[in-house]
Amino acid sequence: MVDDPGTRRSVLEGGSAAESEPDRRKRQAMTEEQVAIIIGCDHAAVGLKNKIKALLQKRGIPVEDAGTNDAASVDYPDYGKQVASKVAAGDYQRGILLCGTGLGVSMVANRYPGVRAALCHDLFGAIMSRKHNNANILVLGGRVTGDILAAEIVTVWLETPFEGGRHQKRLDQFNQVG
Ligand code: RB5
Repeated sequence: MVDDPGTRRSVLEGGSAAESEPDRRKRQAMTEEQVAIIIGCDHAAVGLKNKIKALLQKRGIPVEDAGTNDAASVDYPDYGKQVASKVAAGDYQRGILLCGTGLGVSMVANRYPGVRAALCHDLFGAIMSRKHNNANILVLGGRVTGDILAAEIVTVWLETPFEGGRHQKRLDQFNQVG
């Protein structure tokens, strides 16, 4: 599937690999919250950030780009803070963060109360981060995850709802930590 140029294009443009265009549009209309997303990265993930940003815009999702926008070395905490502080404040319901591994920005983002940042390397993790953890920031490693897989991860992360119930009870316990 990854070697099929048609599939690659479809996934990068916001589709998913094995479904027809009408089905994709119907599912997108039914499941996706078209809320604005704030995205940020350090110098190690600018290329992937720009691809994810284009994917979001193709889906009609408003995107606030917190930078960085070129290869000049920057400090990832500055970008983690910009995105996580705005999600914590309720300015954005969802954010996406990237650095080389995804580790640094995850650590920064999860210091903010109310932020549940999930570093995802595969589809199962991305789906479960929504279903069970109600992750409000998706984190990707620009030096770890390839463009096609990253696009699929973003797609399922956008489309998977939180299951609530016993999982909400567990999230409530986060406030008793520390
Ligand atoms: C930058 O070289 C790198 O340390 C950063 O992108 C990230 O991987 C940190 O966790």
